[in-house]
Amino acid sequence: MSVYGNNQQSSPKRLRIRHIQAMKDQGQPISALTSYDALSARIFAEAGIDILLVGDSAANVVFGRASTLSMSLNEMAVLGRAVADAAPRPLVVVDLPFGSYEVSCEQGVQSAIELMKATGADAIKLEGERPELIRAIVQAGIPVMAHLGFTPQSEHALGGFVVQGKGEARETLFQSARRVEEAGAFAVVLEMVPQEIAGEISAALRIPTIGIGAGNATDGQILVWTDAFGLGQGRAPRFVRRFADVASVLDQAAREYIQEVHARTFPAEAESFSDTEER
Ligand code: KIV
Repeated sequence: MSVYGNNQQSSPKRLRIRHIQAMKDQGQPISALTSYDALSARIFAEAGIDILLVGDSAANVVFGRASTLSMSLNEMAVLGRAVADAAPRPLVVVDLPFGSYEVSCEQGVQSAIELMKATGADAIKLEGERPELIRAIVQAGIPVMAHLGFTPQSEHALGGFVVQGKGEARETLFQSARRVEEAGAFAVVLEMVPQEIAGEISAALRIPTIGIGAGNATDGQILVWTDAFGLGQGRAPRFVRRFADVASVLDQAAREYIQEVHARTFPAEAESFSDTEER
């Protein structure tokens, strides 16, 4: 049983970054999922999730676009607000979208402030090794989750969805992880990296590592929820485990509904109002 998981008696009302750090210190695995709306946020929060990430994967999942590059600060703000309002207990992290922090540290700090004000989230996440920017945002009082390894906003520069940190790139990844920790990040996502290097980084860093396609030795795991629960489109990446088939459940429910409407068996008497009823 988790020290901070779905245990109402011992769990704090709201998870803070210090609780996430305590989980690492106590060797307690950290659970994280993406969420983009109040419906899923409420369900995952009730289930005891530790971290909800309002990822810019919303571009694919919510808006059906091909890449995350098109997401705007306003779009992230709207989705972030819905999740933060619906899930008061998990730590809610919102992605800084592409184009909102690359120009300068000032631009990044401004965007982070805007997102925190608009969403009521607990932290922001940004991709790549950017120690100066992380330092500046932390200095402004905003917790930062870093994101290394495969970083989808750089998919064109990285040449597609390719495993990072292999061979000679291993040491670079290790040093990047050290630098984001030194800059003040409270956690770091490691995406699509070999499990050996993810394990080494997790053992070497004081802050928690959250893996996605990074093996089992990271301090926590995150998945895009629609991939994990069977609502995603297309083939899910190899590192995803399907914990449910929500698409089939919805498909079946929709077919039954349509059939009952066509057959005039919905709504029934009990589902209708009558003139003669008192209330
Ligand atoms: O945008 C996102 O969903 C992410 C996760 C894949 C970590 O960054």
